[in-house]
This record gives sequence, structure tokens and C-alpha cells, in this order.
Amino acid sequence: MPITLRWGILGAGNISSQFVHDLVLNNSRADSGIIHIVRSIGCSSTSKGQDFIKDCNINSTNNEGIAPVVQSYDDFYQNPEIDIVYVGTPHTFHKVQVTKSLEGGKHVLCEKPFTVNKKDAEKLFQLAKDKKLFLMEAVWTRFFPSIKLLKKYVYEDKVIGDVHRLFSDFAWNADIPNLEPTNRLRDVNLGGGSLLDIGIYSITYSRILLDNAVGESHTKFEFKSFMSLDARDGVDYNTSIIVQYADGKQGILSCCNYTTGKMPFLRLEGTKGVVEMSSDNPARPRQFKITFDDGRDPIEYKDESGYNGFIYEANAVARDIAAGKIENDTMPAAETLLVMEIMDKIREDAGLVYPQDGQLI
Ligand SMILES: NC(=O)c1ccc[n+]([C@@H]2O[C@H](COP(=O)([O-])OP(=O)(O)OC[C@H]3O[C@@H](n4cnc5c(N)ncnc54)[C@H](OP(=O)(O)O)[C@@H]3O)[C@@H](O)[C@H]2O)c1
Repeated sequence: MPITLRWGILGAGNISSQFVHDLVLNNSRADSGIIHIVRSIGCSSTSKGQDFIKDCNINSTNNEGIAPVVQSYDDFYQNPEIDIVYVGTPHTFHKVQVTKSLEGGKHVLCEKPFTVNKKDAEKLFQLAKDKKLFLMEAVWTRFFPSIKLLKKYVYEDKVIGDVHRLFSDFAWNADIPNLEPTNRLRDVNLGGGSLLDIGIYSITYSRILLDNAVGESHTKFEFKSFMSLDARDGVDYNTSIIVQYADGKQGILSCCNYTTGKMPFLRLEGTKGVVEMSSDNPARPRQFKITFDDGRDPIEYKDESGYNGFIYEANAVARDIAAGKIENDTMPAAETLLVMEIMDKIREDAGLVYPQDGQLI
């Protein structure tokens, strides 16, 4: 029997469309043992929601004969035919929308950053626990087959020997001066800046590649950071972090919205070789190459599945919910809280305060 999961998509924007692309492609291929039905689009406007369904090409053949409905947010939270909500709206809306989804009895997969700060994230995980509902931050990067394979090479086979250094950068020129001041990248009220939007991935790679443990059992580390606050917008478009583990391993992590970074965006150095990772989007670990100091043939990997890559986390979530779990082992609540704590400290040191930091739920 295939696992079937009925999704409600909250927000008909950029990332929701990329996520839904993978759900319906999975259904067309019918080879995963999982069926993801898009049941409802929660949207600020009916016509925008209808356009989303059309643009994402959701149809009867790739959605189990179901035509999704477009609903107001309030009706969406009450829809009994939604098993799980995918929250695809800007950061600052996550807290309220996850809360309302859980209160409506739905499991939730919420885009990164999960919330603007750690204290809000803790409240959401406590609510999910109280309601016995699944809740996960959509850190899709961790679920790619490339990451599982790379962790095997680095931690089990130790092909690059002892790991000493990681360089991980996520930089793209967002043309900030020409964006509206109310754009989510610029607006302090929407959690603007680069750390929460893209720096989170540089931190995630350090968590994946400098530590084989996750969440509560993570290996201890310390870090120092610099964050430049933009004179006009008051948010960061340039942040760098140095992390050090007890055994001396270091990571140099960066993010920037003023310039576009070069490939490879990531380099992991060991005593016997080097891993380099390239991609059209550093959040999407599609490709890596391992070269060896002794001149052996390199190991190369490329994901040519045709998926954007969201299917890997969506399938993991479907399996967890079918198994009655309320959190995922690859991206547990404690890992979200750990990364949120790092980002809180970086902001605190630089004096970047979001209006939401002072709010209570
Ligand atoms: N996983 C990834 O690689 C990845 C990539 C990009 C973004 N993200 C994350 O996904 C989230 C959404 O990013 P996005 O680029 O998809 O955003 P977006 O397209 O700008 O907005 C998504 C939706 O959020 C609602 N929204 C946007 N601005 C709003 C505002 N000012 N007030 C009220 N509602 C607003 C709208 O919903 P309606 O359709 O209902 O109007 C919009 O369609 C962010 O938290 C971001 O960090 C993740």
C-alpha cells in the first residue's frame, strides 16, 4: 500500500511553487511508494491561487484525480482534508501560521528560517508536542542523496582522512538597491538580511560536515562572527562566522547579498583529499567532487533526478507521519533550536534586532 499524504500549501509564492513541482512530478513517476496530494492552496487571493495551480500544472493525472481548492487562510486552517501544511511564506509569518495550523489539527513542514528567533521556535515545538503533531523546519539540504553519500565517504570511509577545514559560502547579488524597501530581503519587519535567508545554509553545511551528530547529541563547538549592517536598511547583507570544534577543526562560513559567489561554493579539506561542492543554488547540494592528494581518480557525484530537490524532505516527512512520529531524525527540533541559537547570538553581537524579538506569542 502506498503512503498517501494530503498537503495544504500556505502561500502561493516562489518557494511553494518549487516545492509543489516536486510533489506532482513524484506522482507522475509513481515510483516512490508515496503519493503526495495537493489538497488546498491557502492564499490571500482566489485568482492568485488559481494561477498558482495552473502555473504549477497540478492536474487530475498528477494529483490522484483531485482538483485542489483555493481557500482563505482562515478556511484553510479549518479544512479537515489537509493532513499537513507546508508553510511557504516569509519568515516573520511562520510563528502565527504554524501555530494556527497546529491548532487546526494539522502536521506542519515550515520553511527555513523556522522562526525569527529561538524563543519563538521553542514555543512552536512545545505546541506540536502537546498536540502530538509532526513539526519540522524544511531544511531540505539535509535530505539530498548527495549529503547521505558524502557523509558516508567522510565519516565512515574517511576517504579524505582527518577533516581540518571547511569553507562554505552562500553569496548572490540580490540587486538590493533596486528592490522595494518592503521586499522580504530588505525589510527589517520581515526578518530581512542575509543571515536568516541564506547564511543559515552555510551554518547548516558546517553542522552536516564538521559534526556527524545532530540535535541534542551534537558535538560542542564555539564560534565568532562579524555582521555588517546596511546603513540604509539596518539589516545584514554581509556576514561571516568562524566555528571551531574541540578537536581543532574549523569552519569559515559566509553569506552575502551584495555580490555573487563563485563555484565551488564549498570546500572541505582533510589530510588525504578535498571535497568540493557546486550547484546553481548552494542550498541545493546537487554535485560534488572528491580529489585525492595521492593522485587517485576523483570521486564525482551529480544528482540528475529532475527534481528540484524538495521531494527528498517531503518523502521523509511522509514516512515519519505514516510511522506516527512527531519529529524527524535527520532534522530534529533540537537541531533547529541549535541553529536558531547560533543566529540569535550573531545578531545580538552585531545589534540586529527584529521587531518580533520583543513580542510574546
Ligand atoms: N528552501 C529554500 O531553498 C528556500 C528558497 C527561498 C525561500 N525560502 C523560504 O521560504 C519562505 C518564503 O520565501 P519566498 O521567496 O517563497 O517568498 P515570497 O514568494 O515573497 O512570498 C511567499 C508568499 O508569502 C505571502 N507573502 C509574501 N509577502 C507577504 C507580506 N508582506 N505580507 C503577507 N504575506 C506575504 C504571499 O502569500 P499569498 O500567495 O497568500 O499572497 C506570497 O505568495 C521564506 O521564509 C524563505 O526563507 C526557502
